[in-house]
Amino acid sequence: MNDFLRQVVLSQEQIRQRVSELAREILSLYGDTRLILISILKGSVIFMSDLVRQLPPSTEFYFLQLSSYRDATVPQGKPDFYALPVPDLRGQHVLLVEDILDTGQSLEYAQRHFLEMKPASLRICVLLAKEGYESSPMPKPDFLGFVIPREFVVGYGLDYQERYRGLPEIGIPADL
Ligand code: XMP
Ligand code: MG
Repeated sequence: MNDFLRQVVLSQEQIRQRVSELAREILSLYGDTRLILISILKGSVIFMSDLVRQLPPSTEFYFLQLSSYRDATVPQGKPDFYALPVPDLRGQHVLLVEDILDTGQSLEYAQRHFLEMKPASLRICVLLAKEGYESSPMPKPDFLGFVIPREFVVGYGLDYQERYRGLPEIGIPADL
């Protein structure tokens, strides 16, 4: 525990183990097929970095910037969307990598954007989903790390007002 967290939800070791399992699940589905990861900035960067280092060296990664929370702890309407350069995705296998799924609005937005590029497949890998996410009509993850309580969490890429992204564990911030 550190002074910044009121409660640890997932320890560094729990995250490490689960990310390795997810990498194995991804590998068993795609094998050596060319795989393109698209990491949704900024929250999924650390997750994607740990994941890609356990996937075949041919795995490519690109980014999309989406922000629905700005500096708040509840979504602030339609996400801000910045498309960053990606290769031609037509006929390619694409995996969206996201930090956390709540209503699914962000992923639905990203999914619609990339489906227009006619990939051979477009799947979703999410580290965390908030309890009750299944009741939303939005996209469901193909790969999911953990279901967590409906609390605002930080660490391992997730921020509160841009802080705490570098914490190795995930938890509830003390200053919230
Ligand atoms: P939706 O509702 O679009 O929300 O599925 C997912 C996006 O909201 C952000 N989010 C969080 N960020 N701690 C955070 O730091 C949280 O507990 C949290 N819940 C949702 C996240 O950026 C994700 O892309
Ligand atoms: Mg995010």
